Amino acid sequence: MGMSLKRSVAISGSTGFVGKNLQRFLIKNKVKCIPVLRSFFQETRSLLLSECFCFVHLVGLGNETKNQSFEEVNVELTKRIIDICKRSKIKKIIYFSGLGVSSKSTSNYFISKFKAERLIIKSELDYTIFRPSYIIGKDDYLTRNFKKQIQKKEIIIPGTGNYIIQPISINDVCSVVHLAIHSRSFSKKIIDLVGPEKILFKQFVKNSIRNQNTTIKKIPLKKSLIQVSDKKFPYGNEDLNILFGNFEGNHEKLRKISKIEFTKVTSV
Ligand SMILES: NC(=O)c1ccc[n+]([C@@H]2O[C@H](COP(=O)([O-])OP(=O)(O)OC[C@H]3O[C@@H](n4cnc5c(N)ncnc54)[C@H](OP(=O)(O)O)[C@@H]3O)[C@@H](O)[C@H]2O)c1
Repeated sequence: MGMSLKRSVAISGSTGFVGKNLQRFLIKNKVKCIPVLRSFFQETRSLLLSECFCFVHLVGLGNETKNQSFEEVNVELTKRIIDICKRSKIKKIIYFSGLGVSSKSTSNYFISKFKAERLIIKSELDYTIFRPSYIIGKDDYLTRNFKKQIQKKEIIIPGTGNYIIQPISINDVCSVVHLAIHSRSFSKKIIDLVGPEKILFKQFVKNSIRNQNTTIKKIPLKKSLIQVSDKKFPYGNEDLNILFGNFEGNHEKLRKISKIEFTKVTSV
């Protein structure tokens, strides 16, 4: 198949929060999308996507379960995607890692994302690796979490809440990925996917509950680290690693490369 016929973009994780929004956005912008669904990964047979020129790999696991480990999902499936890209002559892969991921990471989630990044960089494919902070939309992870807590009239802040998050809107994320699919300026780069506003978690919570008479309850750091194993506790182990990590991203770099006007996100 000639290069000119490679007009489509493959998307894994297309049923997730980012995937759904991105697919809708790309279709609106006349980009043909080919979803790569979970059922495919459960088969041993490989996939040939000759009509695709780019693969947006969004499959990711944020909380380990009995049935799925970080290694199996975040590392092993990335290997398979790289293999599909090579055999289908897809030149570019776009990957969603996580803000704060580095060679010095010590938590299993961060380590698995770092390993996936290394595999992509070593693959000799063209790539853009994004490291997102919280992505905020209508149905994102943090919004759903807060809504559930607000329904019970109490919202928990683990620790002091004096740690920074740099949320980014899902619309901006879709615009940026759209640009990264087509523009060379995103080539072979690792880019923090963070919004223009750095905000303390405690302030973000305050803004998010607005006037819906909800009590804010602070749980000391050590106590919340113990409570993560309790199913009723609204934050998991990796949530706390991310929050207490107090990671700051480089929004300026993202703004310079993408040249779009970013929305300030100060609440869910
Ligand atoms: N949302 C955020 O704020 C945020 C922040 C930092 C990083 N990220 C990263 O961005 C990416 C997209 O996030 P998201 O919020 O859209 O995640 P999500 O809503 O949890 O969606 C995860 C997607 O991965 C698929 N998936 C999970 N395990 C799989 C497996 N074993 N085999 C095949 N598919 C599997 C899911 O498919 P099913 O529908 O079949 O389950 C779903 O399509 C992830 O890599 C995530 O780590 C997100």
